[in-house]
Amino acid sequence: MKLSLTAHTFVFAGGLCVACSILVSASAVGLREMQEQNRILDRRYNVLQAAGLIDYGERMSADEINEIFEDRITGAVIELETGEEDPDADPDGFDQRAQRNDPSTSRSAPTNPAGVRRLPDKALVYYVYDGDNKDIIVLPIEGEGLWSTLYGYLALDADTRTIRGLTFYEHGETPGLGGEVDNPNWKDEWPGRKAFDDDWEPVIEVARGSVGPPDEDPHQVDGLAGATITARGVTHMLQFWLGEHGFQPLLERLRDELGEAQDA
Ligand SMILES: Cc1cc2nc3c(=O)[nH]c(=O)nc-3n(C[C@H](O)[C@H](O)[C@H](O)COP(=O)(O)O)c2cc1C
Repeated sequence: MKLSLTAHTFVFAGGLCVACSILVSASAVGLREMQEQNRILDRRYNVLQAAGLIDYGERMSADEINEIFEDRITGAVIELETGEEDPDADPDGFDQRAQRNDPSTSRSAPTNPAGVRRLPDKALVYYVYDGDNKDIIVLPIEGEGLWSTLYGYLALDADTRTIRGLTFYEHGETPGLGGEVDNPNWKDEWPGRKAFDDDWEPVIEVARGSVGPPDEDPHQVDGLAGATITARGVTHMLQFWLGEHGFQPLLERLRDELGEAQDA
């Protein structure tokens, strides 16, 4: 059977489409596992940075990141409302974002300036131990900037007041403006600041201009030039997650634990 030139063209184009779609689907499926591994690695890298165990932007291999993480960091799944640990939950397989998106494992958040709409029943936090005692607590945070939801980690010292570090591992803010949340110089402004005032109100905020060192301006960090909306988003999300609907019950429990350890 002889095909006309037009029929040839259609058969060729159709064949090419099928071949390309098989190639694209195969690579999407094949790469999924690698993407997932890289996502976990990036989270680990950010937890280590927030906790001050590695420098911001430090170049490290995947093996080095995993080694330090597994050596120094312990994950814990906690009930957000009580701050109690769930001993049956597996921190390694826990996906907080999936939990927050699932109506059976989350609830509506009260209206808040951070733009947090749903609260997961449980959250994944990390501890760095010094012997038997918790030395650093790393909390996951999220909230609205100008263009996007920012996801990151806030690390606090064992006193639950002094900030150890802040990192963002995902956002869609403009590079050079809101994207300056990733600038190591800005991130260096955070360690040593105090997240709470003397009454345990979360008061840490990004200022509008420049501020002094932590001993002069303990509750403020330099503003982000030309990115007031992102900066305000950072303030709101920190105050939300340190507050009563966020990690306040956990932090109160850890303070009690610390007090008991010091009395013993
Ligand atoms: C293309 C473009 C991108 C912008 N990206 C951001 C951003 O990522 N974060 C932000 O807060 N403001 C961003 N802005 C500026 C805001 O629109 C707004 O003017 C700014 O937040 C006000 O901050 P300022 O008072 O420090 O100027 C952007 C503006 C433009 C034109």
